[in-house]
Amino acid sequence: MQKKSRKQLVLINVIFTVICVGILVFLFKAPKETTSPLPHDDIHNPFFAIESKKEAEQSCLSCHDQGKEAPLPENHPPKYRCLFCHKRNR
Ligand code: HEC
Ligand code: HEC
Repeated sequence: MQKKSRKQLVLINVIFTVICVGILVFLFKAPKETTSPLPHDDIHNPFFAIESKKEAEQSCLSCHDQGKEAPLPENHPPKYRCLFCHKRNR
């Protein structure tokens, strides 16, 4: 490859910087989380006490499955690992 001139190097660095700033701006502008957190109520409070997410999730579908008392909405995204999306805010 041909040796790059000083000017070219400066240009490459400027382009690189602009791309980095662009990515940062993009990330900071990402919409804020809208998925509902695990509610704080009598039903769900016990799940805050269970340390392991995986363990806490075992019972969710006993109420939140089709035909149960609080089925998931029709268009619900893939439902493995409830608590990764429905965060347990303290
Ligand atoms: C004993 C039944 C039962 C269990 C077990 C249960 N839920 Fe629920 N859940 C409900 C009911 C009923 C509602 C709707 C009324 C309410 O908000 O409390 C609900 C509402 C929700 C909502 C909606 C809150 C909102 O803002 O609209 C989320 C999210 C949720 N549950 C997640 C979970 C997760 C995750 C688990 C497992 C860790 C779980 N639930 C276990 C009965 C249950
Ligand atoms: C990949 C992320 C993800 C996972 C995993 C997930 N959910 Fe959801 N859930 C969502 C989104 C997004 C919505 C729709 C929220 C909206 O439309 O405002 C939703 C909606 C719900 C609702 C309806 C009430 C509401 O807040 O709109 C309940 C109840 C619920 N989820 C429970 C569960 C349970 C129980 C599990 C595990 C079996 C689970 N979710 C797993 C992302 C997820």
